[in-house]
Amino acid sequence: MASSLVLFALLRAAVATITVNDPSDTILPSDWADDNALLADYDIAFISTQPRDLATAYTFDDGSKLVQHKEYSTDENDTCVIVVSDGAHLTASHVDILKSGYSSNLNEASFYGFNAAINVANDSSATLEHVNITVHNGAANVYSYGTDTVVKLNHAWLYSSGPVSHGLYASGNGTIIGRNIKHFSGGTRSSAFSGDSPAGYVYVYDSVSHCAGVGSATYYALGTIYAENVISHSDNGPVVFSDGAQNATLVNCDATAGLLGGVAMFSSSVRLSGAKLKLKDSKITTLGETMPGLWFGNLIVDVDIDNSQINHTSGVLVSANYSQITQEFNHYADYTENSSLQPAEVTVKVVDSDLTGDLVAYNGSYISWTLKSYSSWTGTAYSGYGDASFDVALDKTSNWTLTESTTVQNLTDKDHTLSNIFSNGYTLYYNSSATKSRWLKGRTISLDGGGSAQPIST
Ligand SMILES: *[C@@H]1O[C@H](CO)[C@@H](O)[C@H](O)[C@H]1NC(C)=O
Ligand SMILES: *[C@@H]1O[C@H](CO)[C@@H](O)[C@H](O)[C@H]1NC(C)=O
Ligand SMILES: *[C@@H]1O[C@H](CO)[C@@H](O)[C@H](O)[C@H]1NC(C)=O
Ligand SMILES: *[C@@H]1O[C@H](CO)[C@@H](O)[C@H](O)[C@H]1NC(C)=O
Ligand SMILES: *[C@@H]1O[C@H](CO)[C@@H](O)[C@H](O)[C@H]1NC(C)=O
Ligand SMILES: *[C@@H]1O[C@H](CO)[C@@H](O)[C@H](O)[C@H]1NC(C)=O
Ligand SMILES: *[C@@H]1O[C@H](CO)[C@@H](O)[C@H](O)[C@H]1NC(C)=O
Ligand SMILES: *[C@@H]1O[C@H](CO)[C@@H](O)[C@H](O)[C@H]1NC(C)=O
Ligand SMILES: *[C@@H]1O[C@H](CO)[C@@H](O)[C@H](O)[C@H]1NC(C)=O
Ligand SMILES: *[C@@H]1O[C@H](CO)[C@@H](O)[C@H](O)[C@H]1NC(C)=O
Ligand SMILES: *[C@@H]1O[C@H](CO)[C@@H](O)[C@H](O)[C@H]1NC(C)=O
Ligand SMILES: *[C@@H]1O[C@H](CO)[C@@H](O)[C@H](O)[C@H]1NC(C)=O
Repeated sequence: MASSLVLFALLRAAVATITVNDPSDTILPSDWADDNALLADYDIAFISTQPRDLATAYTFDDGSKLVQHKEYSTDENDTCVIVVSDGAHLTASHVDILKSGYSSNLNEASFYGFNAAINVANDSSATLEHVNITVHNGAANVYSYGTDTVVKLNHAWLYSSGPVSHGLYASGNGTIIGRNIKHFSGGTRSSAFSGDSPAGYVYVYDSVSHCAGVGSATYYALGTIYAENVISHSDNGPVVFSDGAQNATLVNCDATAGLLGGVAMFSSSVRLSGAKLKLKDSKITTLGETMPGLWFGNLIVDVDIDNSQINHTSGVLVSANYSQITQEFNHYADYTENSSLQPAEVTVKVVDSDLTGDLVAYNGSYISWTLKSYSSWTGTAYSGYGDASFDVALDKTSNWTLTESTTVQNLTDKDHTLSNIFSNGYTLYYNSSATKSRWLKGRTISLDGGGSAQPIST
C-alpha cells in the first residue's frame, strides 16, 4: 500500500502529479498492526453526562496558561494526557504529546473524550501551534466538548493507531478549527475530522489526511464539516460519512475514497431531512469497482456540485438507495438487516461541472437533477430496484448526452427545442402529466443523434 498521497492538479486537464507525504511515512502502520486490527465494542453501557473528573495526567483548569517546548505523555488506560476545563485557556506551542493506553469504554471515549490525548471541555479553549500529537491503542488526538468550547490548531502532526482514534473530534456542540495539519490514522472507525452527537463543528484548512482503517472517513459529519484546501485519502472509507441531518462543505479539496462510496450519507434510524453536501472546486475519486460517486440512504438531502469532478469506475454517479450502513461500516445493508428504512430523496444542483455516470434510485427513492451554468452530464437514470423517480432540469447553457433510453417525471429545459439533449439514438421518456413536463404538451420531439423525447405511453 503506497504510503503517500498523490495530488492531481485541480484543473480540468490534469497537468502535474505531485507526491504528498503523510505521517505514515514516518511511523509505519505495519509497526502497529495489532493496534490497527482492534475492533470497537459499542454494545456497552452509556453515561449521559461528561463527568467532571475526567482521568488525566495533566490538568489546566485555572485561567490562561502558556506552555512552550514541552513534552507530555501518559500510558494509562482511560486517561487523557491533558484536560483543559473550567473555562481555562491553554496556549501550547512546540509541544509534543504522546498517548498510549487503551479505552475500556468506547462510548465514553466517543461522546465525552475519555482517553483523548488532549480534551478541551466546557467553555474552555486552547490554541495549539506546532504540536506533535501521537497516540496508540485507540484515542482521539484532539477532543473538543461543550457549546462554547473552541480549539484552534495550527501546524499539527497527528498520528494514531488503534480503533476510534479520530484526529480532530468535536462533540457536545464543541468547535475545532485546524490549519496546516498532517494527519494519519491506522485503526478502524478512525476518521480524520469528526463530529459526534449531539453535534460538533469542525473546520479544516490547508491540510493533508490519510486514513487506513475500515470505516475511517476523511470527514465524519455530525454537526458541521467545512474543509478547504485539503488533500485526503481514505483507504477503507468514504470521503464523507454522515448520520442524520448534517452539513458538509468541501472547497478546493482533492479527496479519494476506497470503500462504500465517494460520500456515504444516511440516517441510522428514522429517516431525517435537511442534510446538506456542497462540493466546490473539488474532486472526489472512488477506487472500488462498484463504489458510487455519491451515495445516500434513508435520508432527504440537498447537494450542490460547483465546478467539481467526480471520478468513479462503477458507472454510478449518484445512488439514492433504500438502504443503511451498519456499525461495521463496511457494506450497504438492506431491509433484511435493518428494517428502519425509507426511500432516499436527493436533490442535486450542478453548476460549472462536467459529470459522467448514472443516477440510480432504489425502491421508491427519488433524484432531482438540475444542470446550470455550462454544465454537462453524460449518463442515464434508472431504477436499481422497484419504483424510482427522476426529475431532470437543464438551463440553456448546459447539456445532457444519453447513454441509454431514460424515463423521467419532470423534464425541464430552458432550451425549449431540446437542442442541448444528445440522444445517441436513445429515447427520453417523460411524464406528460408531471407538473413541470406539461409545457411539452405530450409532444414527441426529435433529438440530436436520431432519438426522440416522447411521453410515457399511457
Ligand atoms: C461540563 O459541564 C457539564 C454541565 O455543567 C457537567 O456535567 C460536566 O461534568 C462538565 N465537564 C467537565 C469536564 O467539567
Ligand atoms: C489496560 O488495558 C489493556 C487492554 O484492555 C489491559 O490488558 C490492561 O490490563 C489494562 N491495564 C490496566 C493497568 O488496567
Ligand atoms: C512526532 O512524535 C512521534 C512520537 O514521538 C515521532 O515518532 C515522530 O517522528 C514525530 N513527528 C515529527 C514530525 O517530528
Ligand atoms: C448542545 O446544544 C443543545 C442545543 O442547543 C443543548 O441542548 C445541549 O445542552 C448542548 N450540549 C452541551 C454539552 O453543551
Ligand atoms: C452548512 O455549512 C456551510 C459552511 O460551514 C454554511 O455556510 C451553511 O450555512 C450551512 N448550511 C446549513 C443549512 O446549516
Ligand atoms: C437498525 O438501526 C438502528 C439504528 O442504528 C438500530 O437502533 C436498530 O437496532 C437496527 N435494527 C436492526 C434490526 O438491526
Ligand atoms: C480517475 O481516477 C483514476 C484512479 O485514481 C485515475 O487513474 C484517473 O486518471 C482519474 N481520471 C481523471 C479524469 O482524473
Ligand atoms: C443499494 O443497497 C443495496 C442493499 O440494500 C446494495 O445491495 C446495493 O449494492 C446498493 N447499490 C448502490 C448502487 O448503492
Ligand atoms: C422495498 O420497500 C418495501 C417497503 O415499502 C419493503 O417492504 C421492501 O422490503 C423493500 N424491498 C427492498 C428490496 O428494499
Ligand atoms: C456540453 O456542455 C459542455 C459544458 O458547457 C461543453 O463543454 C460541451 O461542448 C457541450 N457539448 C456540446 C455537444 O455542445
Ligand atoms: C405521472 O405523473 C402523475 C402526476 O404526478 C402521476 O400521478 C403518475 O403516476 C405519473 N405516471 C408515471 C407513469 O410515472
Ligand atoms: C414534478 O415537480 C413538481 C414540482 O416540483 C412536484 O410537485 C412533483 O411531485 C414532481 N413529479 C411529478 C411526477 O409531478
